[in-house]
Amino acid sequence: MAVTRKAFVIGHPIAHSRSPLIHGTWLAQYGIDGSYEAIDVPPAALADFFVRLRSGEFAGGNVTIPHKEAVFALCDAVDPLARTIGAVNTLVVADGRVQGTNTDYLGFLGNLDAGAPGWDENEPDVAVLGAGGAARAVLVALKSRRVGTIHLFNRTLETAIRLADELGPGIQPHEYSDFSITAPFCRLVVNTSSVGMHGTRFEGLDLARLPEDAVVSDIVYSPLETPLLADARARGLRGIDGLGMLLHQAVPGFEHWFGVRPEVTPDLRARIEATLEG
Ligand code: ATR
Repeated sequence: MAVTRKAFVIGHPIAHSRSPLIHGTWLAQYGIDGSYEAIDVPPAALADFFVRLRSGEFAGGNVTIPHKEAVFALCDAVDPLARTIGAVNTLVVADGRVQGTNTDYLGFLGNLDAGAPGWDENEPDVAVLGAGGAARAVLVALKSRRVGTIHLFNRTLETAIRLADELGPGIQPHEYSDFSITAPFCRLVVNTSSVGMHGTRFEGLDLARLPEDAVVSDIVYSPLETPLLADARARGLRGIDGLGMLLHQAVPGFEHWFGVRPEVTPDLRARIEATLEG
């Protein structure tokens, strides 16, 4: 008899997580005998949770705030890309060992490939906005593909310089005041910063000099239509919102735990979209 496969997302708090809805939709769609539950694990209880994991109760699961860095020390192995990104968001348990990985960079690429096929033809230059934690997954993703120069913009230039030194070569740090000079060469713009959340906007970021076929992508998904994306679309540019990245980053985890590679469908997207603010 087949064993029921169980997976989870751990975080603290965890009630806001959309992952149970995403994975639950796929479990039902593919008729899989499995479960995916949200488990609130406070930081002090994380080590005990790993004891439970090694017992074999779960096939694996997702890790979210505030545990994405702390789990490094508890995993039996962490893949090199997760190390470079500096965060583990996915755990796979096999033979009592816990392997940590990061699927955010695959989610970013999966979303871009689905929404803007051919975006990386002819090695485009790329503008990345923001140099915080989320930028690392995007930079690792971009560097895994054939792109030209990656222009890394940040409010605090020193942070961009440090990140470019760490993840370069091919990454050029800038202040936002350089944006209009580099814009004519960039066929992809990616916002990785928190600007856009709750409708906040970049002041003075002029999209007018981007090429006509440029793609503007935002990893913020609440709201779905950030002011940056609205500006891009008003200029006739293609916009890719951040919800797709959330959906696509879930694909490799589900495949690891349940053995089926799930599809990101319009129906799944609509279900999650219905849970987002305005
Ligand atoms: P995350 O892990 O979500 O990336 P983070 O590490 O705190 O969060 O990074 C937030 C990013 O948003 C940083 O690049 C930050 O710029 P600074 O390094 O200058 O702080 C950027 N950011 C936040 N608020 C911003 C604002 N009002 N204007 C421009 N950039 C902003």
